[in-house]
Amino acid sequence: MALTLITGGEVISSSGAQSADLLIDGDLIAALGAPGYFDAIAGTCERVIDAKGKYVLPGGIDVHTHMELPFGGTFASDTFESGTIAAAFGGTTSIIDFAVQRTGEDVHDGLASWHEKADGNCAIDYGFHQIIGGVDDASLKAMADLTLHEGVSSFKLFMAYPGIFYSDDGQILRAMQTAADLGAMIMMHAENGPAIDVLVAQALARGETDPRFHSLTRPVEMEEEATHRAIMLAKVAKAPLYIVHMSAREAVEAVAHARHLGANVFGETCPQYLYLSLEEHLARPGFEGAAYVCSTPLRSRAEGHQDSLWRALRTNELSVVSTDHCPFCMKDQKELGLANFSKIPNGIGSVEHRMDLLYQGVVTGELSLARWVEIACTTPARMFGLYPKKGVIAPGSDADVVIYDPRGTTDIGVKSHHMNMDHSAYEGIHVDGRVETVLARGRVIIENNSFTGATGRGAFLRRGLSQYLL
Ligand code: URP
Ligand code: ZN
Ligand code: ZN
Repeated sequence: MALTLITGGEVISSSGAQSADLLIDGDLIAALGAPGYFDAIAGTCERVIDAKGKYVLPGGIDVHTHMELPFGGTFASDTFESGTIAAAFGGTTSIIDFAVQRTGEDVHDGLASWHEKADGNCAIDYGFHQIIGGVDDASLKAMADLTLHEGVSSFKLFMAYPGIFYSDDGQILRAMQTAADLGAMIMMHAENGPAIDVLVAQALARGETDPRFHSLTRPVEMEEEATHRAIMLAKVAKAPLYIVHMSAREAVEAVAHARHLGANVFGETCPQYLYLSLEEHLARPGFEGAAYVCSTPLRSRAEGHQDSLWRALRTNELSVVSTDHCPFCMKDQKELGLANFSKIPNGIGSVEHRMDLLYQGVVTGELSLARWVEIACTTPARMFGLYPKKGVIAPGSDADVVIYDPRGTTDIGVKSHHMNMDHSAYEGIHVDGRVETVLARGRVIIENNSFTGATGRGAFLRRGLSQYLL
């Protein structure tokens, strides 16, 4: 098999940094050695990459994406092809996307249609979670089939979006009991949907139609209450629980409390909640704020949620940062809600920027280098049954590797990004650090700011159970 050697870099793992050279044999990492250790065989390598002065880290794993998600009468604007190429540019080498079952649909059909969308179209490896939008006997049985036979071991339920994806508490409890029997993970969109729908209707009746009312009708209490309720239901069912896209300090406190008591409860946040806010983004004049409509919503910076999220990431009260990549163009998509904020498709696209945006946490002293890798690469792999194939630089693991230049810089914006979006939530932002080279299973797929991989090389990842459970 073809050998590749990466020399002179600082290898970053979730436990620290070490100067080491890295030998790759075909798809896999063969060995790590002290600097110079492989010099004698360098001549036999097909490729020697000089990483002097650079960080060498495991490829990023984004466990929350929505390519082509049907939502609000339209579809998320990235295909598996465009979205995975964009991810690769940003140093992400695996995604886990959400296959969809809506009320009345068959779970297996939903999963099959997601395979159809992704198969042969991905530039990087990909797995699926399954959205269960209609808990009944058939979907509970399907949860077992998917976990035991299909490599899909995590199931997203919604306490929000009545009439679309929503499950009531009884349905949630039944799905959690099934997950507990299987050892599968329940992922929860924790917002009180029925109560939010009342607030939305009342706001619209008062003529409050601007994008900022999206956040004002989804107050912190609606996330806090649903998070607490989900934790209580999971406790009764003895099921593992992972709360997705957390934005409110009070909801994170509920997760932290459950974790301190020893529960298998985990929390995820996303870059938009760490950087963007109600005041500065969602409340922009005119319709500009529509770009920032997502759920859970952006919160008030003045209320201090962002500081709490960073702190929770440091203390492991929050375990993972994903993007919840769910892009919609302003034209024809976000514009569906020009006269009514509740018709704006929910979602922000940032699959390309997660690694860079989190690296800013290292630059500003919010995170250590090791914690950066842990929350963006290693924990996502362990949380969703991909470790040690993914998420770590170790002999035998897939050679998914990012060479990151800490002295480089990255300009974020619609002119330079590769996502299929006509705007960027981070337009004009200039960040420290730069993804220089990306290898996916041993092959260089990004270098010199170009994609050198192949659409279709990305393979489906059959996942095991979460590796955080006893
Ligand atoms: O606004 C969001 N988060 N859109 C994607 C769907 C979801 O709830 O994750
Ligand atoms: Zn959600
Ligand atoms: Zn989502």
